[in-house]
Amino acid sequence: MHGEHIDERSADTASVIDVNDLPDGLVVTDRDGHVLTVNRAAARLTGVTHDQAVGRHLRDVFSFRDRDGRDWWKWLDTYGGLPTRTRQPELSLRTPGGQEMLVAARLVRTPERGGEIVRVVITLRDAGARARLERSRADLVSTVAHELRSPLTSVKGFTATLLAKWTRFTDDQKLVMLETVNADADRVTRLITELLDVSRIESGRLEIHRQVVDIPARIRKIIAGRVAAGEPDDRFRLEMGGELPETWLDQDKIDQVLANLMENAVRHGRGTVTISVEPNEWGVTVSVRDQGEGIPPELVTRVFQQFWRGNARRRGGTGLGLFIVKGLIEAHGGTISVQRGPEGGAEFRFMVPTGTPDFA
Ligand SMILES: Nc1ncnc2c1ncn2[C@@H]1O[C@H](COP(=O)(O)OP(=O)(O)OP(=O)(O)O)[C@@H](O)[C@H]1O
Ligand SMILES: [Mg+2]
Repeated sequence: MHGEHIDERSADTASVIDVNDLPDGLVVTDRDGHVLTVNRAAARLTGVTHDQAVGRHLRDVFSFRDRDGRDWWKWLDTYGGLPTRTRQPELSLRTPGGQEMLVAARLVRTPERGGEIVRVVITLRDAGARARLERSRADLVSTVAHELRSPLTSVKGFTATLLAKWTRFTDDQKLVMLETVNADADRVTRLITELLDVSRIESGRLEIHRQVVDIPARIRKIIAGRVAAGEPDDRFRLEMGGELPETWLDQDKIDQVLANLMENAVRHGRGTVTISVEPNEWGVTVSVRDQGEGIPPELVTRVFQQFWRGNARRRGGTGLGLFIVKGLIEAHGGTISVQRGPEGGAEFRFMVPTGTPDFA
């Protein structure tokens, strides 16, 4: 032993902490670099198990290198360097297999200050997850830029044409151009509103203001709105399945969910759209189904992702609708799923708990 002093408190803690419980990878070596232990997260990250590594040299089993191919262990130099050096800040390193990892180290000395290095404690974190997140942010930026550019190109094109050649167009032609400009401006506004919803959902800043919401009444209202806007009134059917409990929900957000699902059923589906509402153990289940082609089972997990829109690009959506719907439902403590409906089309089914008043 090195005559280390362990006080009672840390001995207690040591008995309840298992290195295998750590979320990050952990590798401990002696001063020479011989591996003493490898925890489960490190084994998962590197593919090298505790038993395979123990007793061997770090360089032979893990062999971390920096971007320029330099050997990290050699660089760490446990026999050289300042005697006050106790840690090696996190670096992005690669294994010979090309796997990227964030690696940091602590040099344990005896005595603690200025003594010789007795052990090296190394933590490993997955750099892939961070890189994926950064990539998805970059994708988001480019998708948004693209989505904003097409309506703005038309706004700019038509206004420039009208300004340059105002007297050469008839009133009817001018009207058509202005209507297009107007519709495209609406599209930009809608996209920006949706993006704000997305950012609130992602940062967990979505606020729910609860009140008593009569779900069937909200559905009837949305149907009435669509019928008033020219849709045939046999396009929608409302089915009630039993007496509903009182539900405390955010009315605007529930409207948004219902309107989105019904809009999708009309735009991406076909035939009659059936909306059914029934009580469940904790609250209410609502399902919206149509008689169209539905969603192939292998794409079911994709439909709720941002900007995913199957082959519906030409139908003018942005692919944010269902991502937002899912976020709104989850903010209520509910869940949503999709399956093949009894008549073949897609059936979106969500459940929301009854909820309680905000200041109960
Ligand atoms: N009822 C449905 N039937 C068949 N496919 C559907 C249905 N609802 C959604 N989808 C598919 O899921 C995709 C994602 O839907 P989502 O509502 O997120 O986006 P969108 O409707 O394309 O655009 P947005 O809602 O942002 O205007 C759609 O593009 C479509 O391919
Ligand atoms: Mg949609």
